[in-house]
Amino acid sequence: MIRVWTDDAEAGLLDRSGDRSSTFLYMPEASGERAVSVTMPVRLASWNTRFSLAPIFEMNLPEGALRERLRLAFAKATGTFDDIDLLGVVGRSQVGRIRYTGQKEKLSEEVPFQSVNEILERRRAGDLYRYLIERFASYSGISGVQPKVLVRDETDFADRQPGTRLSPSYRGATHIVKFWEPNEYPQLAANEYFCLKVAEKCGLEVPRFRLSADAGAMVIDRFDLRQDGTYRGFEDFCVLNARRTDQKYSGSYETSVLKRFQQFANSTHVYEDLEKLFTLIALNCALRNGDAHLKNFGMVYDDVLGEARLAPVYDLVTTTVYIARDNMALTLNGTTGWPSAKDLHRLGETRAGCTPARVREIFERIAGAIRSTSAEVMAYAKENPDFAEIGARMVAEWEKGIRR
Ligand SMILES: Nc1ncnc2c1ncn2[C@@H]1O[C@H](COP(=O)(O)OP(=O)(O)O)[C@@H](O)[C@H]1O
Ligand SMILES: [Mg+2]
Repeated sequence: MIRVWTDDAEAGLLDRSGDRSSTFLYMPEASGERAVSVTMPVRLASWNTRFSLAPIFEMNLPEGALRERLRLAFAKATGTFDDIDLLGVVGRSQVGRIRYTGQKEKLSEEVPFQSVNEILERRRAGDLYRYLIERFASYSGISGVQPKVLVRDETDFADRQPGTRLSPSYRGATHIVKFWEPNEYPQLAANEYFCLKVAEKCGLEVPRFRLSADAGAMVIDRFDLRQDGTYRGFEDFCVLNARRTDQKYSGSYETSVLKRFQQFANSTHVYEDLEKLFTLIALNCALRNGDAHLKNFGMVYDDVLGEARLAPVYDLVTTTVYIARDNMALTLNGTTGWPSAKDLHRLGETRAGCTPARVREIFERIAGAIRSTSAEVMAYAKENPDFAEIGARMVAEWEKGIRR
């Protein structure tokens, strides 16, 4: 049995129930704002999920290499290790405002300190990254297939806004460190770094992101961390669509992203955010990012019963440099083929409330951001010959993307 906490207060109990199913029960005294998700209001009846965990509890479970490492380290003598076991390991340090502990345990989020500068300045990869994964895996309640960890460097975080310091008793994770497998996806961190640059130049909100000197890692500030050291609510679009993680590639940009956001935003800023969401979808097409699936969009809030805003941008990659024939992750007009400008016009006008002139302006902004970042990609490629081939391919793909 696992205790579930929201905003540092006890919300309910989660347990296995029969054939790989699970059940969650709110504490009898839980008030509305203890809700674990906008999709799961506080109620007397339990929330039962067949053959898995409810999507909000599954949301931050590591996938890929990190999951495998934790399984090897924590599997019981019997060899079993299910999602609830995994939550028991990474539950105390998670993206967003939910935490998990054993039934009798108190909440304590003590992530070891790790200097971000040390990661950024490291000239040689190898050992540091192995060390980080070993030391921080069990503090890394974060999803995704690429290897990554959550670390704490509150001094680096506080530097952002002089005068505001995180409380000295603050012990939770502040940054995400992402690595890549050189054999599988060469130069992935630099690829993502320049894609995020484009997003920033388009005027989209992007958390601070930095590429290490050896281009082996990206360090990203957590956007769910508040200045006082507490965390905002975060839910990805798998959760909003009541989908399991393994269904992240099913759905459409029209319904599963734009319409779903409108349904749950509960916000006076909904049209402003829909326009940003539309810009992000169009940008993904221009960048030829075939991995813009349901877990790569999110929503953030301070109060689960209050207004939710579109989460800042994360995880943008030009995937067609690795998989030449890659298509979109979700459908538009019923197909995953890259859309034409006309298709995107229709999407913006019918689903995001944009005028035709506004859509044209957004396209211009994207094209401008891509052109100026292309110059930066080429300059970086000149300095870093290892990146030259991927860099040239990225620029060519982007050119294709904006021509459409
Ligand atoms: N800056 C951030 N702050 C908080 N959570 C984040 C941030 N960036 C990503 N996340 C969360 O971490 C997850 C994994 O990150 P992502 O960059 O998508 O990795 P991957 O490339 O492995 O998919 C995201 O789905 C999201 O839930
Ligand atoms: Mg992702």
